[in-house]
Parts: sequence; structure tokens; C-alpha cells
Amino acid sequence: MDVQNKTVVLTGASGGIGQSMAQELAKQGARLILVGRHSAKLETLAQSLDGEHLSIAVDLSSHDGRHQLFEYCARNGPINVLINNAGVSAFEMVENQNDSEISDLLSTNLTSPILVTKGLLPLLQMAGDGGVVYVGSTFGSIGYPGFSAYCASKFGLRGYCEALRRELSDSGLQVFYLAPRATNTALNSSRITELNRELGNTVDDPLIVAKALLKQLHTDKINCYIGWPEKIFARLNALLPVLVDTSLRKQLPVIRRLANSHRD
Ligand SMILES: NC(=O)c1ccc[n+]([C@@H]2O[C@H](COP(=O)([O-])OP(=O)(O)OC[C@H]3O[C@@H](n4cnc5c(N)ncnc54)[C@H](OP(=O)(O)O)[C@@H]3O)[C@@H](O)[C@H]2O)c1
Repeated sequence: MDVQNKTVVLTGASGGIGQSMAQELAKQGARLILVGRHSAKLETLAQSLDGEHLSIAVDLSSHDGRHQLFEYCARNGPINVLINNAGVSAFEMVENQNDSEISDLLSTNLTSPILVTKGLLPLLQMAGDGGVVYVGSTFGSIGYPGFSAYCASKFGLRGYCEALRRELSDSGLQVFYLAPRATNTALNSSRITELNRELGNTVDDPLIVAKALLKQLHTDKINCYIGWPEKIFARLNALLPVLVDTSLRKQLPVIRRLANSHRD
């Protein structure tokens, strides 16, 4: 898919990965509708990009926020591409998770992209030559201790994406799934950063994710998993989960210590 002269709705545009994606998409000649919750951040980003772009500040986890977005897009269409990138994370052992944090996380990471897709689908279908991207995670393929609600949201998103791709297979729209591994953004608290350091996990620059997206769209690759060990680990988890159980069991003391370290 070529994004030149296409209108691309990018959620989570003000975040670490979103800003890099916005820069790379703008360089390729896309016209962006930048979506986040803070208008000042979005306007600063829009002004820093090549070309003319629009922005709207809404809370995607609220009914009103989503409907403001749908109306804004209807006024500023056609809409060719939707990139569902907004997300939040939580690093807690199950017994310490707060009920409202679990609901908020599932709402932002799973329910909202589903409802945003549904709301924008008529506009995407009207344009007919674009598609939808879901930003998942390695944790959408590997259940990881300390991230159970986040994993549930990303596993769910991957399933939704697969079903939608099959449902739209007789339309002109394409459906893509992009799974970054750990990436250096504000999504990761200091405890997550320390976890990645202690476990020796590679942490990517957001530009790596943005470039992977552009390559994925350019080559029409439906699924893109970033990072070699993570890619293999995800496949191994699907084929021989017991091996991954054993490996993660060894990491559990470090995971538990860091998940609980802010409670000391
Ligand atoms: N960073 C990683 O290690 C990593 C790894 C794998 C996958 N991912 C995925 O990559 C995506 C982007 O993450 P990131 O690392 O760039 O995170 P980030 O820097 O924290 O940015 C998150 C973005 O989502 C927006 N957002 C959050 N809740 C929202 C809501 N209710 N309504 C509207 N916008 C909302 C934020 O808007 P505001 O600025 O207005 O708050 C921000 O633009 C997420 O889906 C994440 O799960 C990240």
C-alpha cells in the first residue's frame, strides 16, 4: 500500500511510537489526522511535520470522544487508512491489580480500537483503497507474568484483527497487524525499564517501529513481528508452550520483585 496522498487517521499520535510514525508517514506524503488526548502536543507535532495535517484531541475510551472523532473524520474525509496505535500498559502481579485499572486498560487497548474501527469503517469503505492497522505487541502472542491484563488486551486485538481481515477479504481494504517488542517510550515505567535491563531484553528506538510500519504497508505484509528472538519465541509459544513456561518460570523471581518494588 502506498500512503502518498492518502488520509491516515493515527491514534496515539502524541506518544513515542506515534510521533515517529507520524514523521515517517508525513515524509511519504500522507495527510494525517493526528489523534491523542492533549491538543497542545498534537498541534506542536502537526506543525513539526512535512505537509499540512489535522489533529483532534479526544479520549477514545469514551463514547463521546469516539463520536467526536467520527464526525471530525466525516467532515475531513475521505479516510483511507486507520492506524490503531493508542495504548496503555500496566505492570502488576494479578493480586495487586486494581479493578478500575484493568477495565480502563481493556477499554483503551481492546474495546476502543474495535469501536473506532466500526465507527470509521463506512468512511474507509467509501474510499475503498486503504486499510486498517492494529499495533499489537510481542505480548499479544506470549502470555507474560506481571502483564496479564495487557497480554489479554493484545491477544484480543490480534484475534479481532485476524477475523476482520477475513471478513474484509472480498473488499478493497487491507488489514495489518504490527507487533513491536519493548520500545523506548513513556509507556514503560521505570520498573519496566529496569525489568528489561535485568533480563537483558533489547529495547528498540520508536523509529525502528515506524520504519517497520512503512515497510509493512509498502510490501503489503499482513503480520509484522519486530525482533528476532521475540519472533521465534512467539512461534515456539504457539507450538511448544511448555518450553516457554520453563523459561519464564526462571524469570519469575525478577519479574515479581520488580512488579512489587513500588510497594516497598
Ligand atoms: N513501548 C513499548 O514497549 C511497546 C511495545 C509493544 C507495543 N507497544 C504498543 O505501541 C502502542 C504505542 O505505544 P507507545 O509506546 O508509543 O506509548 P506512549 O508513548 O505511552 O503513547 C501512548 C499514546 O496513546 C494515547 N492514548 C492513551 N490512552 C488514550 C485514550 N484513552 N484516548 C486517546 N489516546 C490515548 C496517548 O495520548 P496522550 O499523549 O494524550 O496521553 C499517546 O499518544 C501501544 O498500543 C502499545 O501497546 C508499545
